[in-house]
Amino acid sequence: MNQDDKKQAAAEKAVSLLPKGEFIGVGTGSTVNFLIDALAKIKYDIKGAVATSNETERRLIAAGIPVVTPAEAGRLPVYIDGADEINHSLQMIKGGGGALLREKVVASMADTFICIADDSKYVSKLGKFPLPVEVLPFARSLVAKALFRMGAEANLRVGFKSDSGHEILDVTGLDLLRPLTMEDEINKIVGVMENGLFARNAATTLVLGGNHGAEIISAR
Ligand code: A5P
Repeated sequence: MNQDDKKQAAAEKAVSLLPKGEFIGVGTGSTVNFLIDALAKIKYDIKGAVATSNETERRLIAAGIPVVTPAEAGRLPVYIDGADEINHSLQMIKGGGGALLREKVVASMADTFICIADDSKYVSKLGKFPLPVEVLPFARSLVAKALFRMGAEANLRVGFKSDSGHEILDVTGLDLLRPLTMEDEINKIVGVMENGLFARNAATTLVLGGNHGAEIISAR
């Protein structure tokens, strides 16, 4: 199975875990695009979705799934999204696609988080993938200096603006052994809108696509 087959297997298995007749939160990225294709086949079972990016919103509407605002949904029993890395505690690095701020907002509204990923994303320690940090453009160099003082190197994602009009710094060199602490420390820097560590909003369940199909994994 190639990586796309594994993503698709995870996405299709995850559909069977979704509650019927409820709003759900839908993430962003290539794995989620397979999910949206699968949701199109069961669209009448879903009341609607909160989208974490303009791209996801466009795809959901094309699939015939009503898109609602966070306020209209109120509460979400499930948020479902991919990850760039996920560890054995189901803490994640996300934001490779630049949608991390809205992703974290929607994750924070949800009772449970189902992560869908191919097996290359499942790691024992987070940090090989550069950590995306979304910043207010006005404060970008101040944030980069503060990260440098924490031992990190921050590279601007050139030519990219998030759906909310912010910039992204891709950050390497941080020790992510304590993801919860680091998530909070980075968010304390003035000008940081959000960072891509999802430790406070870790996944509840991982659906991991591998060579033999998709398996459901809980936090260790
Ligand atoms: C989007 O900003 C990200 O958080 C994605 O969820 C993450 O990058 C995974 O994307 P893929 O499914 O494309 O690997």
